[in-house]
Amino acid sequence: MAALSILPIVDRDLPFVREMLYEAAFWRGTTDAPDIAGALSQPGLAVYVEDWGRPGDAGLIARVRGARAGAVWVRRFRDDHHGYGYIDERTPELSIAVATDHRGRGIGRCLVTAMLVELGLRAVEQVSLSVETDNPARALYEGLGFVSRQAAEGAVTMVRTPP
Ligand SMILES: CC(C)(COP(=O)(O)OP(=O)(O)OC[C@H]1O[C@@H](n2cnc3c(N)ncnc32)[C@H](O)[C@@H]1OP(=O)(O)O)[C@@H](O)C(=O)NCCC(=O)NCCS
Repeated sequence: MAALSILPIVDRDLPFVREMLYEAAFWRGTTDAPDIAGALSQPGLAVYVEDWGRPGDAGLIARVRGARAGAVWVRRFRDDHHGYGYIDERTPELSIAVATDHRGRGIGRCLVTAMLVELGLRAVEQVSLSVETDNPARALYEGLGFVSRQAAEGAVTMVRTPP
């Protein structure tokens, strides 16, 4: 049996997805970060997972030997209610994190690549994301063909057209 599996997000994955959202938002791991419940109740972060299952929502979970190891997901937003990497109502925004113990083994690259294929199959024109300029994740996105679209307050919004 393969050690790695990548499958669509289902409802029982949502607590893990929330953990990964926290990891993505507080990737620096600073000691003054809020606790996960407090962080995810903030509107700026809650938008990424609240009411999961809306039209346009899509997500994948990577498991290693059955244990959840990472998540990538996209969702569309509106002009009046959106995330940090918002472009327009047609452009989904991508979020990703890999659990600490599983980083550096290609899972993040694999998840983003799989999501790009999924979005291409859905005929999505472009996908966006927001990354802080000093986050090493930026190199991952650049390596996968994302390009900078706009920058503000220490973060950059990147976009890519799916294959
Ligand atoms: C970013 C993240 C999802 C990458 O997942 P991963 O499985 O560790 O990544 P991979 O093993 O597939 O590596 C892909 C590339 O990511 C880049 N990268 C990611 N984190 C890195 C780090 N800490 N140091 C150096 N390079 C890093 C490298 O370019 C790497 O390519 P390389 O191996 O050819 O050098 C993961 O590190 C993570 O969850 N980080 C914390 C959450 C986060 O920052 N999310 C993104 C918010 S915008």
